[in-house]
Amino acid sequence: MAPTIPTLFLLFLSSKFPYSTAQTWIQSGYWFSGSGFPVSDINSALFTHLICAFAGLNNSTYQLSISSSDAQSFSNFTSTVKQKNPTVTTLLAIGGGSVKFSTFSSMVSQSEFRKSFIDSSIETARSYGFNGLDFWWVSVNTSSEMTNMATLFDEWRLAIELESRNSSGSPLILTMAVRYSPLLDNASFPIESVQKNLNWVHVTASDYYLPTWWNYTAAFAALYAPESDMSTDYGINTWINSGLPANKLVLGLPFYGYAWTLVNPDDNSVGAPAKGAAITDEGDMSYKEIKGYIQRHGAVTEYDATYVMNYCVVGSSWIAYDDVDVVKIKVAYAKKMNLLGYFVWQVPNDDDWVLSQAG
Ligand SMILES: *[C@@H]1O[C@H](CO)[C@@H](O)[C@H](O)[C@H]1NC(C)=O
Ligand SMILES: *[C@@H]1O[C@H](CO)[C@@H](O)[C@H](O)[C@H]1NC(C)=O
Ligand SMILES: *[C@@H]1O[C@H](CO)[C@@H](O)[C@H](O)[C@H]1NC(C)=O
Ligand SMILES: *[C@@H]1O[C@H](CO)[C@@H](O)[C@H](O)[C@H]1NC(C)=O
Ligand SMILES: *[C@@H]1O[C@H](CO)[C@@H](O)[C@H](O)[C@H]1NC(C)=O
Ligand SMILES: *[C@@H]1O[C@H](CO)[C@@H](O)[C@H](O)[C@H]1NC(C)=O
Ligand SMILES: *[C@@H]1O[C@H](CO)[C@@H](O)[C@H](O)[C@H]1NC(C)=O
Repeated sequence: MAPTIPTLFLLFLSSKFPYSTAQTWIQSGYWFSGSGFPVSDINSALFTHLICAFAGLNNSTYQLSISSSDAQSFSNFTSTVKQKNPTVTTLLAIGGGSVKFSTFSSMVSQSEFRKSFIDSSIETARSYGFNGLDFWWVSVNTSSEMTNMATLFDEWRLAIELESRNSSGSPLILTMAVRYSPLLDNASFPIESVQKNLNWVHVTASDYYLPTWWNYTAAFAALYAPESDMSTDYGINTWINSGLPANKLVLGLPFYGYAWTLVNPDDNSVGAPAKGAAITDEGDMSYKEIKGYIQRHGAVTEYDATYVMNYCVVGSSWIAYDDVDVVKIKVAYAKKMNLLGYFVWQVPNDDDWVLSQAG
């Protein structure tokens, strides 16, 4: 007797990696609409995946919300970036700064809220022409939130598989942006659900230290740190040792840096006393801004091989960032660790595509 559709479906779901076709090396980049950078200027030939950020979340319906100012560029995003690279894959990121952490927390807590969110996410991805969805809940931090999020992922994957059978299109890709390490003080990421339901995760491997709360200059995106857990190598190994296969991890590369104000301009190594941000309110600067600043001031740049980072000093301003050689070392690290690839935050910050080409 021929298996009925439900039987086939159950067989399909019970197979361990239902949607895994050997994914090749991922070179992904976020485009944030707040950058004001025209989508048509993205050199999409340098990327396999491009992620459009962000759709928000309505705090009463839990449906996706896209502001009227974003709607046009979001709906044109995929067709526009495919002009320079017809095989590029696009995702829509959900979340970001405009969504309160309590809205996510509430959404995952109840079955009907999750359903509203999931249905809306799939419908929005299809109607805007995206190939997948990227979940950006960076503040998830309690064990009950982690448990509820695991349930969300189970239901989301099921809905995506069902929808793709109905629509006869490929299933949507499902990913999440995660912390550098899966272990928080009082909670840990639901590794099993992540492995089963997500295609991969984007590991945010930066912002270990910020000038606004750390009174010393520091390696904000250290690849290695000899006497600390605040490093990319520590985080990646912790993900793998917690049970997530390396080929589900996509490594984050910051196309930005941070400026600290030195207490004493002559004491300017990594770890020198500092007193808050410099140059901008939070000290954050895009790679392009940093290169311009260095050029205008004729600054000498340094490479620190212990942490794998660049920095420069201009008067009492101390700027940490990743230049071309650091990007190359981090990409080589991702390959050596058999990760799935890398992503950049964010594409518009590059300067004449030098960092994107270094990957
Ligand atoms: C959320 O959606 C409801 C129903 O569509 C709408 O009335 C409300 O204004 C939305 N809330 C926000 C903050 O946009
Ligand atoms: C939802 O968002 C609106 C607009 O930001 C706000 O006025 C309202 O208090 C929020 N409601 C809840 C339940 O958080
Ligand atoms: C979107 O695409 C349409 C049709 O190609 C075009 O008329 C419009 O200007 C585009 N809008 C933006 C914001 O790129
Ligand atoms: C979780 O994060 C939220 C938002 O950042 C914060 O207000 C809350 O205190 C945190 N809770 C725990 C247990 O860390
Ligand atoms: C699949 O299509 C049927 C018929 O159009 C519809 O009733 C059902 O809700 C759809 N299911 C999903 C998961 O989209
Ligand atoms: C972790 O839980 C303990 C005990 O409930 C609490 O005292 C502590 O503040 C929590 N830590 C964080 C970062 O939430
Ligand atoms: C860090 O510096 C600020 C002033 O910029 C000061 O208010 C704060 O107390 C300092 N924090 C520590 C831990 O030294």
